[in-house]
Amino acid sequence: MTSGKKEGNKISIEGRKLKGRVAIVTGGSRGIGRGIAFRLAEEGARVLVADIDSLNAKKAAEALTEKHLEAVPVQVDITKERSVDEMVKIALKAFKKIDILINNAGIMFRTRLQDLSLKEWEDIIKVNLTGPFLCSKAVIPFMKRNGYGRVVNISSSAGRSVSTLGGAHYTASKAGLLGLTRAVAKETAPFGITVNAVCPGLIDTQMARDTTTKAELNAFIDSFPIKRLGLPEEIGDLVVFLCSQKATYITGASIDINGGDLMI
Ligand SMILES: NC(=O)c1ccc[n+]([C@@H]2O[C@H](COP(=O)([O-])OP(=O)(O)OC[C@H]3O[C@@H](n4cnc5c(N)ncnc54)[C@H](O)[C@@H]3O)[C@@H](O)[C@H]2O)c1
Repeated sequence: MTSGKKEGNKISIEGRKLKGRVAIVTGGSRGIGRGIAFRLAEEGARVLVADIDSLNAKKAAEALTEKHLEAVPVQVDITKERSVDEMVKIALKAFKKIDILINNAGIMFRTRLQDLSLKEWEDIIKVNLTGPFLCSKAVIPFMKRNGYGRVVNISSSAGRSVSTLGGAHYTASKAGLLGLTRAVAKETAPFGITVNAVCPGLIDTQMARDTTTKAELNAFIDSFPIKRLGLPEEIGDLVVFLCSQKATYITGASIDINGGDLMI
């Protein structure tokens, strides 16, 4: 889905919602992050594709630049403060400012409580919750300086209720991310910054396919009011809206996008 003023099949530069904005997308090399990176770039943002997988980040950034969109790849491990600080430096060097941070990188395991080791618990919390904390802490001072910022945290239906697939650690990390969203939203609102969470249901990505059997996926799809998986670009469309001038009064919100799987 595209939006903005159209000239034939092309979106005019003036019609782009995020023209001139600079965005960091963590986990931007594949799946939901890639969908978000593409939609932000299509709306005129210059995008830092930040991922622990440097080869995939490079491929995603190249795919964007082949479409004459602006993107730079960077390798980051969001669980490491020094790596996050380096990512911010690279973004500032490339684009001079940061307007938008999408905390998307995440991991999911299905392990049940009795088999869950402390290490696996900590691994999930580090990527899904500590990572967004470190990235927000590193980026927000530069947003404050410009009196403008948009942070979108990719949580999950798991954070709003309980995970269909993931274990207790996944649900806890995604629920924690909603708390982080609200606290940071409250602190940063006076500086022209909004902070929101997007809570997807089951989305068609490598993560979803790697952690389910085909039969399980079909059973899930059959149970959804809208009988299909969500698409990464559909998450991207919602993120574009939250980053646009149409969403200036929305902050601290957790927004569901799940084909009706969870209605609360
Ligand atoms: N796919 C779904 O059904 C679904 C549903 C709800 C929420 N989510 C959430 O959406 C986000 C993206 O999910 P996805 O399905 O696209 O997953 P994915 O596994 O396809 O992609 C995740 C990306 O994050 C990167 N990453 C992992 N650890 C990292 C780290 N320490 N530092 C930097 N990058 C790292 C990976 O390399 C990968 O590119 C996750 O936070 C996930 O929990 C996914």
